Amino acid sequence: MVQIKIFDTTLRDGEQSPGVNLNQLEKLEIAKQLERFGVDIMEAGFPASSQGDFEAVKKIADTIKDVSVTGLARAKKSDIDISWEALKGAAEPRLHLFIATSPIHMEYKLKKTPEEVIDIAVEMVSYARQKFPQVEWSAEDASRTDLPFLAKIIEKVIDAGATVVNLPDTVGYTTPKEYGEMFRYIRENVPNIDKVSLSAHCHDDLGMAVANSLAAIENGATQVEGTINGIGERAGNAALEEFAVALNIRNDFYPYHTNLVLKETKRTSDLVSKFTGMVVPANKAVVGRNAFAHESGIHQDGVLKNASTYEIITPELVGIHSNNLVLGKHSGRHAFKDKIKQLGYELSEEKLSEAFKAFKLLTDRKKEVTDDDLFAILTDVQTDV
Ligand code: KIV
Ligand code: ZN
Repeated sequence: MVQIKIFDTTLRDGEQSPGVNLNQLEKLEIAKQLERFGVDIMEAGFPASSQGDFEAVKKIADTIKDVSVTGLARAKKSDIDISWEALKGAAEPRLHLFIATSPIHMEYKLKKTPEEVIDIAVEMVSYARQKFPQVEWSAEDASRTDLPFLAKIIEKVIDAGATVVNLPDTVGYTTPKEYGEMFRYIRENVPNIDKVSLSAHCHDDLGMAVANSLAAIENGATQVEGTINGIGERAGNAALEEFAVALNIRNDFYPYHTNLVLKETKRTSDLVSKFTGMVVPANKAVVGRNAFAHESGIHQDGVLKNASTYEIITPELVGIHSNNLVLGKHSGRHAFKDKIKQLGYELSEEKLSEAFKAFKLLTDRKKEVTDDDLFAILTDVQTDV
Protein backbone atom coordinates (compact mmCIF):
# COMPACT_ATOMS: atom_id res chain seq x y z
CA MET A 1 0.00 0.00 0.00
CA VAL A 2 1.38 3.39 -0.99
CA GLN A 3 1.27 6.03 1.74
CA ILE A 4 -0.38 9.30 0.74
CA LYS A 5 0.81 12.28 2.74
CA ILE A 6 -1.91 14.58 4.00
CA PHE A 7 -1.15 18.29 3.71
CA ASP A 8 -3.76 20.19 5.70
CA THR A 9 -4.40 23.81 4.72
CA THR A 10 -7.40 24.54 6.97
CA LEU A 11 -5.43 27.32 8.67
CA ARG A 12 -4.43 28.99 5.37
CA ASP A 13 -6.70 28.18 2.38
CA GLY A 14 -9.49 27.24 4.82
CA GLU A 15 -9.15 30.58 6.56
CA GLN A 16 -9.53 32.24 3.14
CA SER A 17 -13.24 31.27 3.30
CA PRO A 18 -15.23 34.50 3.09
CA GLY A 19 -16.14 35.67 6.60
CA VAL A 20 -13.65 33.47 8.46
CA ASN A 21 -11.01 35.09 10.67
CA LEU A 22 -9.25 32.96 13.27
CA ASN A 23 -7.29 34.47 16.14
CA GLN A 24 -3.97 33.07 17.35
CA LEU A 25 -5.49 30.97 20.15
CA GLU A 26 -8.10 29.45 17.87
CA LYS A 27 -5.45 28.64 15.28
CA LEU A 28 -3.28 26.99 17.90
CA GLU A 29 -6.17 24.86 19.21
CA ILE A 30 -6.98 23.70 15.69
CA ALA A 31 -3.28 22.99 15.06
CA LYS A 32 -3.11 20.77 18.17
CA GLN A 33 -6.18 18.86 17.02
CA LEU A 34 -4.71 18.47 13.51
CA GLU A 35 -1.63 16.95 15.17
CA ARG A 36 -3.89 14.45 17.01
CA PHE A 37 -5.70 13.76 13.75
CA GLY A 38 -2.34 12.72 12.26
CA VAL A 39 -1.88 15.09 9.31
CA ASP A 40 1.65 14.92 7.88
CA ILE A 41 2.02 18.62 7.05
CA MET A 42 0.01 21.60 8.23
CA GLU A 43 -0.01 24.97 6.48
CA ALA A 44 -0.38 27.31 9.43
CA GLY A 45 -0.95 30.51 7.45
CA PHE A 46 0.57 33.12 5.17
CA PRO A 47 3.18 34.90 7.35
CA ALA A 48 3.71 37.89 5.04
CA SER A 49 -0.02 38.63 4.83
CA SER A 50 -0.37 40.27 8.26
CA GLN A 51 1.36 40.66 11.63
CA GLY A 52 -1.38 38.53 13.21
CA ASP A 53 -0.82 35.68 10.77
CA PHE A 54 2.96 35.95 11.20
CA GLU A 55 2.58 35.56 14.97
CA ALA A 56 0.10 32.69 14.67
CA VAL A 57 2.38 30.78 12.27
CA LYS A 58 5.37 31.37 14.55
CA LYS A 59 3.48 30.17 17.61
CA ILE A 60 2.34 27.01 15.80
CA ALA A 61 5.83 26.33 14.39
CA ASP A 62 7.35 26.70 17.87
CA THR A 63 4.70 24.50 19.52
CA ILE A 64 3.79 21.66 17.15
CA LYS A 65 6.63 19.18 16.98
CA ASP A 66 5.15 15.99 15.52
CA VAL A 67 3.94 17.51 12.26
CA SER A 68 5.84 19.44 9.62
CA VAL A 69 4.62 23.06 9.71
CA THR A 70 4.62 25.24 6.60
CA GLY A 71 3.57 28.73 5.52
CA LEU A 72 2.67 30.24 2.18
CA ALA A 73 4.87 32.77 0.36
CA ARG A 74 4.65 34.60 -2.94
CA ALA A 75 7.69 34.46 -5.21
CA LYS A 76 9.30 37.46 -3.48
CA LYS A 77 12.44 37.64 -1.35
CA SER A 78 10.61 39.66 1.33
CA ASP A 79 7.88 36.96 1.68
CA ILE A 80 10.55 34.25 1.96
CA ASP A 81 12.51 36.19 4.61
CA ILE A 82 9.39 36.86 6.71
CA SER A 83 8.33 33.22 6.40
CA TRP A 84 11.76 32.07 7.59
CA GLU A 85 11.43 34.24 10.71
CA ALA A 86 8.04 32.64 11.40
CA LEU A 87 9.01 29.06 10.60
CA LYS A 88 12.64 28.68 11.66
CA GLY A 89 11.63 27.16 15.02
CA ALA A 90 9.62 24.35 13.36
CA ALA A 91 10.76 20.73 13.68
CA GLU A 92 11.21 20.64 9.90
CA PRO A 93 10.90 24.18 8.44
CA ARG A 94 9.11 24.01 5.14
CA LEU A 95 8.19 26.78 2.74
CA HIS A 96 5.26 26.75 0.33
CA LEU A 97 6.22 29.01 -2.54
CA PHE A 98 3.90 29.73 -5.46
CA ILE A 99 3.66 31.58 -8.74
CA ALA A 100 0.97 31.41 -11.40
CA THR A 101 1.72 29.59 -14.65
CA SER A 102 -1.50 29.75 -16.71
CA PRO A 103 -1.62 32.16 -19.70
CA ILE A 104 -4.49 34.18 -18.18
CA HIS A 105 -2.72 34.64 -14.82
CA MET A 106 0.70 35.41 -16.34
CA GLU A 107 -0.69 37.97 -18.78
CA TYR A 108 -3.32 39.77 -16.68
CA LYS A 109 -2.31 39.26 -13.07
CA LEU A 110 1.48 39.01 -13.13
CA LYS A 111 1.99 40.95 -16.39
CA LYS A 112 5.03 38.77 -17.11
CA THR A 113 6.09 36.66 -20.07
CA PRO A 114 6.40 32.88 -19.58
CA GLU A 115 10.21 33.19 -19.70
CA GLU A 116 10.16 35.85 -16.97
CA VAL A 117 7.96 33.61 -14.82
CA ILE A 118 10.46 30.76 -15.20
CA ASP A 119 13.34 33.04 -14.18
CA ILE A 120 11.49 34.32 -11.09
CA ALA A 121 10.43 30.81 -10.02
CA VAL A 122 13.98 29.45 -10.36
CA GLU A 123 15.57 32.41 -8.56
CA MET A 124 13.08 32.27 -5.67
CA VAL A 125 13.29 28.50 -5.20
CA SER A 126 17.09 28.64 -4.98
CA TYR A 127 16.90 31.63 -2.63
CA ALA A 128 14.43 29.77 -0.38
CA ARG A 129 16.60 26.65 -0.35
CA GLN A 130 19.46 28.64 1.21
CA LYS A 131 17.31 28.63 4.35
CA PHE A 132 14.61 25.99 4.15
CA PRO A 133 15.43 22.26 4.02
CA GLN A 134 12.05 21.65 2.38
CA VAL A 135 10.54 23.83 -0.34
CA GLU A 136 7.23 23.01 -1.95
CA TRP A 137 6.73 24.87 -5.20
CA SER A 138 3.20 25.40 -6.55
CA ALA A 139 2.23 26.22 -10.12
CA GLU A 140 -0.86 28.27 -9.36
CA ASP A 141 -3.68 27.51 -11.86
CA ALA A 142 -1.72 24.47 -13.08
CA SER A 143 -4.85 22.84 -14.49
CA ARG A 144 -5.26 25.71 -16.99
CA THR A 145 -1.56 25.84 -17.86
CA ASP A 146 -0.11 24.80 -21.21
CA LEU A 147 1.36 21.33 -20.52
CA PRO A 148 4.73 21.66 -22.35
CA PHE A 149 5.30 24.97 -20.49
CA LEU A 150 4.32 23.34 -17.20
CA ALA A 151 6.80 20.50 -17.81
CA LYS A 152 9.55 23.01 -18.66
CA ILE A 153 9.13 25.17 -15.55
CA ILE A 154 8.85 22.10 -13.29
CA GLU A 155 12.12 20.70 -14.62
CA LYS A 156 13.84 24.02 -13.85
CA VAL A 157 12.45 24.46 -10.32
CA ILE A 158 13.51 20.90 -9.48
CA ASP A 159 17.03 21.74 -10.64
CA ALA A 160 16.85 24.85 -8.43
CA GLY A 161 16.11 22.68 -5.37
CA ALA A 162 12.31 22.27 -4.98
CA THR A 163 11.55 19.15 -2.93
CA VAL A 164 7.78 18.94 -3.62
CA VAL A 165 5.89 20.08 -6.73
CA ASN A 166 2.22 20.91 -6.28
CA LEU A 167 -0.18 21.19 -9.21
CA PRO A 168 -3.28 23.06 -8.00
CA ASP A 169 -6.65 23.14 -9.66
CA THR A 170 -6.92 26.69 -8.33
CA VAL A 171 -10.33 27.50 -9.77
CA GLY A 172 -11.94 24.05 -9.43
CA TYR A 173 -12.25 23.75 -13.21
CA THR A 174 -10.74 20.37 -14.00
CA THR A 175 -12.32 16.90 -14.18
CA PRO A 176 -10.94 13.64 -12.74
CA LYS A 177 -9.82 12.33 -16.14
CA GLU A 178 -8.17 15.59 -17.18
CA TYR A 179 -6.45 16.15 -13.81
CA GLY A 180 -5.16 12.55 -13.74
CA GLU A 181 -3.80 12.96 -17.27
CA MET A 182 -1.95 16.13 -16.25
CA PHE A 183 -0.08 14.19 -13.52
CA ARG A 184 0.69 11.40 -15.95
CA TYR A 185 1.98 13.88 -18.55
CA ILE A 186 4.26 15.54 -16.00
CA ARG A 187 5.63 12.22 -14.82
CA GLU A 188 6.36 11.16 -18.40
CA ASN A 189 7.76 14.46 -19.65
CA VAL A 190 9.88 15.89 -16.84
CA PRO A 191 13.22 14.01 -16.83
CA ASN A 192 14.15 14.79 -13.20
CA ILE A 193 10.62 14.25 -11.77
CA ASP A 194 11.74 11.35 -9.54
CA LYS A 195 13.69 13.81 -7.37
CA VAL A 196 10.44 15.31 -5.95
CA SER A 197 7.06 14.26 -4.58
CA LEU A 198 4.02 15.34 -6.53
CA SER A 199 1.11 16.96 -4.74
CA ALA A 200 -2.56 17.57 -5.62
CA HIS A 201 -4.51 20.64 -4.45
CA CYS A 202 -8.13 20.83 -5.58
CA HIS A 203 -10.93 23.34 -5.24
CA ASP A 204 -14.58 22.37 -5.29
CA ASP A 205 -16.24 24.85 -7.65
CA LEU A 206 -17.75 22.02 -9.71
CA GLY A 207 -18.09 19.66 -6.74
CA MET A 208 -15.24 17.43 -7.94
CA ALA A 209 -12.38 18.27 -5.55
CA VAL A 210 -12.27 14.87 -3.81
CA ALA A 211 -12.79 12.94 -7.08
CA ASN A 212 -9.99 14.96 -8.70
CA SER A 213 -7.67 14.28 -5.74
CA LEU A 214 -8.34 10.54 -6.09
CA ALA A 215 -7.54 10.74 -9.82
CA ALA A 216 -4.27 12.51 -8.98
CA ILE A 217 -3.05 9.74 -6.68
CA GLU A 218 -3.96 7.13 -9.27
CA ASN A 219 -1.54 8.98 -11.56
CA GLY A 220 1.43 9.43 -9.27
CA ALA A 221 0.63 12.15 -6.70
CA THR A 222 1.81 11.04 -3.26
CA GLN A 223 0.57 14.08 -1.36
CA VAL A 224 -2.98 15.46 -1.17
CA GLU A 225 -3.85 18.93 0.07
CA GLY A 226 -7.20 19.94 1.47
CA THR A 227 -9.09 21.21 4.48
CA ILE A 228 -11.30 19.92 7.26
CA ASN A 229 -14.99 20.08 6.26
CA GLY A 230 -13.80 21.23 2.81
CA ILE A 231 -13.80 24.90 3.82
CA GLY A 232 -11.82 27.38 1.71
CA GLU A 233 -11.88 30.04 -1.02
CA ARG A 234 -15.25 30.20 -2.85
CA ALA A 235 -16.76 26.66 -2.88
CA GLY A 236 -13.88 25.41 -0.76
CA ASN A 237 -11.09 22.83 -1.00
CA ALA A 238 -11.08 19.03 -1.12
CA ALA A 239 -12.53 17.76 2.19
CA LEU A 240 -9.73 15.72 3.75
CA GLU A 241 -12.08 13.61 5.87
CA GLU A 242 -13.99 12.54 2.75
CA PHE A 243 -10.79 11.71 0.88
CA ALA A 244 -9.33 9.65 3.76
CA VAL A 245 -12.54 7.76 4.51
CA ALA A 246 -13.00 6.97 0.80
CA LEU A 247 -9.51 5.40 0.75
CA ASN A 248 -10.26 3.48 3.93
CA ILE A 249 -13.68 2.14 2.90
CA ARG A 250 -12.68 1.38 -0.70
CA ASN A 251 -9.32 -0.21 0.10
CA ASP A 252 -10.43 -3.05 -2.16
CA PHE A 253 -10.11 -0.56 -5.01
CA TYR A 254 -7.50 1.98 -3.89
CA PRO A 255 -4.15 0.50 -2.75
CA TYR A 256 -3.29 3.63 -0.74
CA HIS A 257 -3.49 4.66 2.88
CA THR A 258 -3.00 7.78 4.99
CA ASN A 259 -1.68 8.23 8.52
CA LEU A 260 -4.88 9.94 9.67
CA VAL A 261 -6.39 8.71 12.94
CA LEU A 262 -9.92 8.42 11.62
CA LYS A 263 -11.60 8.20 15.01
CA GLU A 264 -10.52 11.84 15.54
CA THR A 265 -12.50 12.91 12.45
CA LYS A 266 -15.68 14.10 14.14
CA ARG A 267 -13.88 15.94 16.91
CA THR A 268 -11.66 17.71 14.34
CA SER A 269 -14.66 18.63 12.21
CA ASP A 270 -16.59 19.98 15.23
CA LEU A 271 -13.67 22.10 16.41
CA VAL A 272 -13.07 23.65 12.98
CA SER A 273 -16.78 24.34 12.59
CA LYS A 274 -16.97 25.97 16.02
CA PHE A 275 -13.96 28.26 15.59
CA THR A 276 -14.60 29.23 11.96
CA GLY A 277 -18.35 29.64 12.45
CA MET A 278 -18.86 27.60 9.27
CA VAL A 279 -21.76 25.28 9.96
CA VAL A 280 -21.38 21.77 8.51
CA PRO A 281 -24.37 21.08 6.23
CA ALA A 282 -26.60 18.30 7.64
CA ASN A 283 -26.16 16.14 4.54
CA LYS A 284 -22.37 16.62 4.31
CA ALA A 285 -20.59 13.31 3.62
CA VAL A 286 -18.83 11.67 6.60
CA VAL A 287 -19.42 14.41 9.21
CA GLY A 288 -22.87 15.89 8.51
CA ARG A 289 -25.61 15.45 11.13
CA ASN A 290 -27.55 13.21 8.74
CA ALA A 291 -24.60 11.13 7.52
CA PHE A 292 -25.56 8.33 9.93
CA ALA A 293 -29.26 9.14 10.36
CA HIS A 294 -32.01 6.99 8.87
CA GLU A 295 -35.57 8.24 8.45
CA SER A 296 -37.49 5.87 6.22
CA GLY A 297 -39.15 2.82 7.76
CA ILE A 298 -37.59 0.45 5.25
CA HIS A 299 -34.10 1.79 5.98
CA GLN A 300 -34.65 1.84 9.76
CA ASP A 301 -35.88 -1.75 9.71
CA GLY A 302 -32.85 -2.80 7.65
CA VAL A 303 -30.37 -0.98 9.92
CA LEU A 304 -31.92 -2.53 13.04
CA LYS A 305 -31.48 -6.00 11.51
CA ASN A 306 -27.98 -5.34 10.16
CA ALA A 307 -26.46 -1.84 9.98
CA SER A 308 -24.51 -2.67 6.77
CA THR A 309 -27.78 -2.80 4.83
CA TYR A 310 -27.75 1.00 4.57
CA GLU A 311 -24.46 2.09 6.18
CA ILE A 312 -21.19 1.74 4.32
CA ILE A 313 -19.23 3.63 7.02
CA THR A 314 -19.59 2.74 10.69
CA PRO A 315 -20.13 5.85 12.85
CA GLU A 316 -17.42 4.54 15.23
CA LEU A 317 -14.81 4.69 12.42
CA VAL A 318 -15.03 8.49 12.39
CA GLY A 319 -15.54 8.92 16.14
CA ILE A 320 -19.34 9.14 16.27
CA HIS A 321 -20.84 7.00 19.00
CA SER A 322 -23.83 5.52 17.22
CA ASN A 323 -26.11 5.92 14.27
CA ASN A 324 -29.35 7.81 14.66
CA LEU A 325 -32.81 6.59 13.74
CA VAL A 326 -34.76 9.78 13.15
CA LEU A 327 -38.46 9.37 13.82
CA GLY A 328 -40.54 11.00 11.11
CA LYS A 329 -43.47 10.19 8.85
CA HIS A 330 -41.58 7.44 7.03
CA SER A 331 -40.62 5.57 10.18
CA GLY A 332 -42.07 2.13 10.86
CA ARG A 333 -43.27 0.28 13.96
CA HIS A 334 -39.95 -1.54 14.40
CA ALA A 335 -37.94 1.69 14.75
CA PHE A 336 -40.64 3.22 16.94
CA LYS A 337 -40.57 0.25 19.32
CA ASP A 338 -36.78 0.33 19.44
CA LYS A 339 -36.74 4.07 20.20
CA ILE A 340 -39.23 3.89 23.06
CA LYS A 341 -37.26 1.00 24.51
CA GLN A 342 -34.17 3.26 24.47
CA LEU A 343 -36.24 5.81 26.39
CA GLY A 344 -36.95 3.12 29.03
CA TYR A 345 -40.50 2.05 28.07
CA GLU A 346 -41.78 -1.53 27.53
CA LEU A 347 -45.40 -1.49 26.30
CA SER A 348 -47.93 -4.25 25.77
CA GLU A 349 -48.74 -4.88 22.08
CA GLU A 350 -52.06 -3.08 22.56
CA LYS A 351 -50.50 0.03 24.14
CA LEU A 352 -47.72 -0.03 21.57
CA SER A 353 -50.30 0.08 18.75
CA GLU A 354 -52.06 2.97 20.44
CA ALA A 355 -48.83 4.90 20.90
CA PHE A 356 -47.72 4.17 17.33
CA LYS A 357 -51.04 5.49 16.01
CA ALA A 358 -50.66 8.71 18.01
CA PHE A 359 -47.09 9.04 16.77
CA LYS A 360 -48.17 8.61 13.12
CA LEU A 361 -50.85 11.29 13.56
CA LEU A 362 -48.22 13.65 14.94
CA THR A 363 -45.86 13.05 11.99
CA ASP A 364 -48.45 14.57 9.67
CA ARG A 365 -48.08 17.79 11.62
CA LYS A 366 -44.37 17.67 12.57
CA LYS A 367 -41.38 16.83 10.38
CA GLU A 368 -39.24 15.35 13.13
CA VAL A 369 -40.63 13.84 16.32
CA THR A 370 -38.43 14.59 19.33
CA ASP A 371 -37.90 12.67 22.56
CA ASP A 372 -40.15 15.20 24.34
CA ASP A 373 -42.96 14.50 21.86
CA LEU A 374 -42.55 10.79 22.54
CA PHE A 375 -42.64 11.28 26.30
CA ALA A 376 -45.94 13.17 25.89
CA ILE A 377 -47.43 10.38 23.76
CA LEU A 378 -46.23 7.69 26.18
CA THR A 379 -47.64 9.54 29.18
CA ASP A 380 -51.02 9.87 27.42
CA VAL A 381 -51.10 6.22 26.45
CA GLN A 382 -50.18 5.03 29.92
CA THR A 383 -52.60 7.25 31.82
CA ASP A 384 -55.37 6.36 29.37
CA VAL A 385 -57.98 4.07 31.05
O1 KIV B 1 -5.43 27.12 -4.99
C1 KIV B 1 -4.25 27.48 -5.12
O2 KIV B 1 -3.69 27.59 -6.22
C2 KIV B 1 -3.52 27.80 -3.91
C3 KIV B 1 -2.05 28.05 -4.09
C4 KIV B 1 -1.60 29.22 -3.33
C5 KIV B 1 -1.30 26.80 -3.78
O3 KIV B 1 -4.07 27.77 -2.83
ZN1 ZN C 1 -6.02 26.74 -2.95
